Amino acid sequence: MTIAQLDNFDFLERLHNVLKPSKPIDSIEQLWGRKKQLQELEVALHADGRHAFILGDRGVGKSSLAQTAAHLLQSSDNQPIIVSCDYTSTLTGIISAILNEALASIDISERSHKIAFKPPLLSFEFSEQLSNKPSLPEVIDPLTATMALDSLSKWHSEKTIIVIDEFDQMPDDQRKAFGVLLKQLGDKGSKVKLIFTGIGQSLDSLMDGHLSSFRQLHQVKLDVLPWDGRFKIIETAFNEFNIKLPEDIRYKIAGLSDGFPSYVHLICEKILVAAHFSDDPITEINFSLFLQALDDAINSVSEILRKSYDQATDGKPEYIHHILWAMADSADLIRSYEHITFSYSDIVNQLELEALDEDKFKKEFAKLRNKSYGCILKRAFDNRPGWFAFRENVIRGFIRMCAEKSNVQLDFERYFTAHTASARTVGTQRKYQPLTEVERNVEYLKRKD
Ligand SMILES: Nc1ncnc2c1ncn2[C@@H]1O[C@H](COP(=O)(O)OP(=O)(O)OP(=O)(O)O)[C@@H](O)[C@H]1O
Ligand SMILES: [Mg+2]
Repeated sequence: MTIAQLDNFDFLERLHNVLKPSKPIDSIEQLWGRKKQLQELEVALHADGRHAFILGDRGVGKSSLAQTAAHLLQSSDNQPIIVSCDYTSTLTGIISAILNEALASIDISERSHKIAFKPPLLSFEFSEQLSNKPSLPEVIDPLTATMALDSLSKWHSEKTIIVIDEFDQMPDDQRKAFGVLLKQLGDKGSKVKLIFTGIGQSLDSLMDGHLSSFRQLHQVKLDVLPWDGRFKIIETAFNEFNIKLPEDIRYKIAGLSDGFPSYVHLICEKILVAAHFSDDPITEINFSLFLQALDDAINSVSEILRKSYDQATDGKPEYIHHILWAMADSADLIRSYEHITFSYSDIVNQLELEALDEDKFKKEFAKLRNKSYGCILKRAFDNRPGWFAFRENVIRGFIRMCAEKSNVQLDFERYFTAHTASARTVGTQRKYQPLTEVERNVEYLKRKD
């Protein structure tokens, strides 16, 4: 039975119009929860000589914000230019890629002159091609790169926006050269704007390249997608097919995703596909369909993303899963050992299993920082023992999905460390002795009730 009597082709076309689990968003109509960051970029990039750097965890939505901002701020006479770095990239290579893309986007009319020689001379036709391609300086260093980029506002577009994506992939010395380039673009008063994306350290080396570059850079530290943004993606997808989604499943999708938008897209995609190919007509999603889709979503999370979880758990005892699920509990990205043990005992209670004793738990927990366990966890601070984090935050959403599939309920909203207890925690049966004053008060009030 298909959704709304759509054939497979029409269904998939409409599905991938609203859901894009593996492609950055580039239009403001589909970019949810980033209004403030977009506005700030608009204001910042309006200033002469200023560029932007979007930094954040893998998968958090950096490229989407960069590309949407680029389309929004680019002058209407052409498209923005988007290039991506890898570990072999160099300053000159990236500038050449930008220029090639710019050349490909302008209308180069080639004028052809044909000169014919007729008998009694030999029959011969000569054709000459003249083009109005701009002549560009050879790019060999930051100075020539500056000249080449600055020329874009003369032949590509009045206000050229360039996205340099995955800047962190580029070797350190090459990133430093971009610091010099930014300074020179600023000194020249160039109208060309650069938006970089990458992780934090890559910004540091850009700054090292020229210490005054920090004045030329607006920094956007991108956090996970807020809850309203997650709900918007879900709502748009299900409204497209007029399918009802119960509130508790909607909440689960948003919470399991941990704010990493690709997980929201992926779970919604799998639910809608399951509904479309279901034997029964579906107008409302039920829990068993959700679980089936969750299974499909887990299986299709890319190898690269799930690698550390697989390394940590493959061929290892079942309790390793439980320890990792405990680590993925709560809204805190950085967790104290004490809180993790609380989450762990809650999970084994839910599964009605016997918990590991304290020493055994400590030993097994420590192993998760070893290479043979994919180094999935790390110490959160160099100088404060007892605090831990996932090596890459994006894995947490995947681990939450695995826990949910095994019918383990995690608390997505509770901050153990932020002096607040989530509404949901207050309503649950957990008996953790709260640490903070606010939590102590909540417990006190609950007991009084
Ligand atoms: N604000 C948003 N609203 C809706 N969907 C989004 C949003 N941001 C990102 N996405 C979706 O999430 C996925 C990941 O986004 P994106 O590729 O921009 O992340 P990223 O931080 O650049 O990831 P990576 O570090 O892997 O390059 C994409 O499929 C995109 O469609
Ligand atoms: Mg990206």
